[in-house]
Amino acid sequence: MPEFHALVPAAGFGARMGNQLPKQYLPLAGKPMIAHALETLCACADLATVFVVLSPDDTQFHCHDWSHLGDKLQPLFCGGATRAESVSNGLAASELEPDEWVLVHDAARPCLTQAHLAKLIAELSGDAVGGILAVPVADTLKRADSRQRIECTEPREGLWQAQTPQMFRAGLLTQALRQCRSVTDEASAVEALGLQPRLVEGDSSNFKVTYPQDLLLAELLLNKNR
Ligand code: C5P
Repeated sequence: MPEFHALVPAAGFGARMGNQLPKQYLPLAGKPMIAHALETLCACADLATVFVVLSPDDTQFHCHDWSHLGDKLQPLFCGGATRAESVSNGLAASELEPDEWVLVHDAARPCLTQAHLAKLIAELSGDAVGGILAVPVADTLKRADSRQRIECTEPREGLWQAQTPQMFRAGLLTQALRQCRSVTDEASAVEALGLQPRLVEGDSSNFKVTYPQDLLLAELLLNKNR
C-alpha cells in the first residue's frame, strides 16, 4: 500500500494581512497559526510524514517548540517565490516515491479537522487522478467592471470554491508543477495535463485566513472545537 504524506507550503508573507510577521506565525488561539494545521496533520494516523516548506530566510520556525509533534514533522527550508514553487521544491526535497500520496495543505487553513482528512482520504485513495476538498459556491456571483459597477450576474451552478488539502500522487504532482508554474493551486497544474481531479465536498469552516477579520472567526471556531 502506498503511504500518505502531508506537505504544508508555509513560505509566504501574507501581504494581504498587512502585518510584519508572516501570516502563518500570527498568534491565533494561543499559538502561531501554522501550529493548528501542523498539529491536526501530525495527529492523523493515516499520514506518515508532515513536511513543512519554509522560506530559506525563515527566522520564526525555530523560535517555537515543535517537539510534541515528534519525528513526523519534517521542516524543509526550500520555499520559493510562489506557492507553486514552494510545493515543487518541497516535493523534490521530500524524496517521496512517485506512487505515494501527498496532501498539500495551506498553513493558513488552521480549522482543518480529522473529519475533513478522513473524508478526503476515504474518497480519493482509490482514485486514478486525485482531487481536492471544495465547497459549492453559496453566494450570488457578480462580475465587476473597471469602475466597480456590476457588469453582469454569473450563474453559480456547477461552481465550487477550492480548498486544501489537495491530494495527488507525488509523481503526477511533480510532473504537473514542472510543466505549469503559474498556478494558485495544485489541481490547476494537474488540470493543465488534461486530467480531471475530483471535488470532495468539505465545508466552509476550512476557510483560508487571508484578511485581518478572518483571524477572529478562526479563533472562535478553534476555541469552540477544543
Ligand atoms: O498567500 P496565500 O494565502 O494564497 O498562500 C497560501 C499558502 O501558500 C500559505 O500557506 C503560504 O505560506 C504558502 N506560500 C508559500 N510560498 C510562497 C507563497 C505562499 O509556501 N512563495
